[in-house]
Amino acid sequence: MTSFLTPYFKMCLKLMVRIRLKHACTTVGIIFILDFFGVFTHLFEVSFDDSFIYPYEGDIHEFIVALRQNQKPNVPPINDHNFTFIHDIKDKCIEPSFQTLRVVFLIKSAVENYNRRMAIRNSWGFEKRFSDVPLKTVFLLGTHINDNELLNKINFESLVYHDIVQADFLDTYYNNTIKTMMGFKWAVKYCANSKFYMFVDDDIYISVKNVLRFLRNPVLYPDYLKDTIKLKDVEHLRNRFKRSGSNVTKNPFVQQNLLLNNYNETMNPKYVSENTNDKTIIMVKRNLESKNVKKRQVFDFELPDDVRLFAGFVFNSSPHRYKSSKWYVSLKEYPYNMWPPYITAGVYILSKEALMDMYYASMYTKYFRFDDIFLGIAARKVDIEPFHCDEFHFYKKDYTKYNYKYVISSHGYSNPDELLAVWNEQKAMGNA
Ligand SMILES: *[C@@H]1O[C@H](CO)[C@@H](O)[C@H](O)[C@H]1NC(C)=O
Ligand SMILES: *[C@@H]1O[C@H](CO)[C@@H](O)[C@H](O)[C@H]1NC(C)=O
Ligand SMILES: *[C@@H]1O[C@H](CO)[C@@H](O)[C@H](O)[C@H]1NC(C)=O
Ligand SMILES: *[C@@H]1O[C@H](CO)[C@@H](O)[C@H](O)[C@H]1NC(C)=O
Repeated sequence: MTSFLTPYFKMCLKLMVRIRLKHACTTVGIIFILDFFGVFTHLFEVSFDDSFIYPYEGDIHEFIVALRQNQKPNVPPINDHNFTFIHDIKDKCIEPSFQTLRVVFLIKSAVENYNRRMAIRNSWGFEKRFSDVPLKTVFLLGTHINDNELLNKINFESLVYHDIVQADFLDTYYNNTIKTMMGFKWAVKYCANSKFYMFVDDDIYISVKNVLRFLRNPVLYPDYLKDTIKLKDVEHLRNRFKRSGSNVTKNPFVQQNLLLNNYNETMNPKYVSENTNDKTIIMVKRNLESKNVKKRQVFDFELPDDVRLFAGFVFNSSPHRYKSSKWYVSLKEYPYNMWPPYITAGVYILSKEALMDMYYASMYTKYFRFDDIFLGIAARKVDIEPFHCDEFHFYKKDYTKYNYKYVISSHGYSNPDELLAVWNEQKAMGNA
């Protein structure tokens, strides 16, 4: 439509000078501009709130249960993630003592980004960073056409570091969803013994220390680390829960909301709800009963194993209908006026339950080229509400020595030297 209108637009300009067809030309001009900005497309969008469905269009809950139990679902998956692993490091997560891993980092990288991988291995991706916290790090790679030299280098790198997960798909921007699902498939198949999984791009700063602190109390992070939590802050947090409007069991919001509803400045254990068998509450109560509790301890707790956490920086936004956008989406591809709530793709954390449910849900989700939207849709299909935290910075947070104290992640560290410098400085400060 744009190129179709351009000659008219030019002709109009000429006419405007010669004859006085000013009004007609103005009209054509306005139509041209409105169309370019996608205004007409917006008019034909379908309301997300009223009628969101996305293929596969039926209820998939039973299929997920069947797949998780290795049974055959009534309707076969529409999207079976059929790619072949070149490197699958099957034994990566096998622990001699059958220990549960705490976090597995899955880093989306590109074949040629060797220097970034080295910087990550030597900083936040170092598996033995904490002697008492079992962590694993792997890199997710696709392939290049006809670049055997590069692929040989990867084979060598895989041999040396034993952290490359690679499959035979072409590594391009619009194949990002394949890369993400390769990571899911690998984790479900070969690394299902971790409590949490964190997906990260290779140009990101991570503070693993803050990741671990966040996971001890996602709802109150980072407030619970501060010396005092004033009642006013608790009120503010209660409002946050109300806005989330969630009532899905296994959701960390709901689980911790129970705790906060019973919070009292005196922190007397009798104010912790008795009529619930929620594991969260019991653990908090135990903390409360110990002598000389600090507020910090009160809020430092362990999420139950069945929690479904899908956390990061959450967006509630609309599709781009602006025709020159990199993220332009036609009505045919996606007809709704809003995206489902989704987590921006650079960084997100999943608990094991969320990983499993979303992996199988993704098999009933029509392929979508933006991986963050694809996961947002899959999460919605299994009623997982993305969990927002401001400390996942999807842009580059301005760096000073002192303002990265609570940062979980920051985008914009494509320069390996800069990543190393910042990480070393923050580690020395006790923040990484
Ligand atoms: C998956 O891929 C393999 C190898 O490319 C092929 O043999 C198999 O038929 C495929 N399966 C499905 C269900 O498409
Ligand atoms: C994605 O990968 C597949 C498999 O390698 C390839 O055939 C396809 O061209 C790739 N798509 C894009 C958009 O690059
Ligand atoms: C939330 O769930 C509980 C338990 O299923 C139910 O009793 C309650 O009415 C629900 N609240 C809302 C607001 O839907
Ligand atoms: C907190 O507990 C005390 C009793 O220890 C009670 O008098 C007070 O009303 C409670 N405050 C709130 C906000 O519930």
